[in-house]
Amino acid sequence: MHLVVASGNAHKTAEIRRILGDLVTSVEDLSAHPEIKEIQETGATFEENAVIKALETGRALGDGAWILSDDSGLEVDALGGKPGVYSARYSGAGASDADNRVKLLEKMAGIDGEENSRSARFRCAMVLARGGQKIAVFEGALEGVIANAEKGEQGFGYDSLFIPEGYSETFGQLPPEVKNSMSHRGRALEKFKLWLARQDLPNENGCSNHVGNQKKAEWET
Ligand code: IMP
Repeated sequence: MHLVVASGNAHKTAEIRRILGDLVTSVEDLSAHPEIKEIQETGATFEENAVIKALETGRALGDGAWILSDDSGLEVDALGGKPGVYSARYSGAGASDADNRVKLLEKMAGIDGEENSRSARFRCAMVLARGGQKIAVFEGALEGVIANAEKGEQGFGYDSLFIPEGYSETFGQLPPEVKNSMSHRGRALEKFKLWLARQDLPNENGCSNHVGNQKKAEWET
């Protein structure tokens, strides 16, 4: 399967490529398709936005393309679930990741002390589409807390502010393979892998890729 990630975010694509490894033939993203104009994310949920991105990209690329979209973000309990679907544009249209982190730290100033008061989660919804049809939705989430200051250089977005449950370091400090093994995106992709293992898709040579004898997949749950 040649997969087109319906995103221009090179960090997301790199994580997806690394997590899927040789389960797919190749992974490209919208940087390879400059003819596709920016897709407006008008949905109220991660899943709605993921559907919009997958179907619009599918329409632009035609029937044969396998599209996987990723809509994701951070929900902070003390902020009523914000920034949520607005994570990429938290401090305004065209905001940089750094701008968004500064705004989040400002909003979180003084929120401390009580148990769970800085609790948050990353969420990810992925939609697989082909031929203009939504084929499957894969979701993942990861609980954690918001750090008091940025720590670490790894990753992107809010990684340097997010301490995953069970750890004392941020995703900015943890190695990428540790993040990928537990992240919201990693968890959604585990469900995609289960889905893939149940399919009987022709490979590049026209032969079957069917793995067979799979237990009932968890991707539906
Ligand atoms: P999207 O491209 O509209 O899905 O926006 C995703 C935004 O959520 C990104 O720009 C980041 O700010 C944030 N985000 C999503 N996933 C991650 C992650 O794995 N690490 C850090 N930030 C993330």
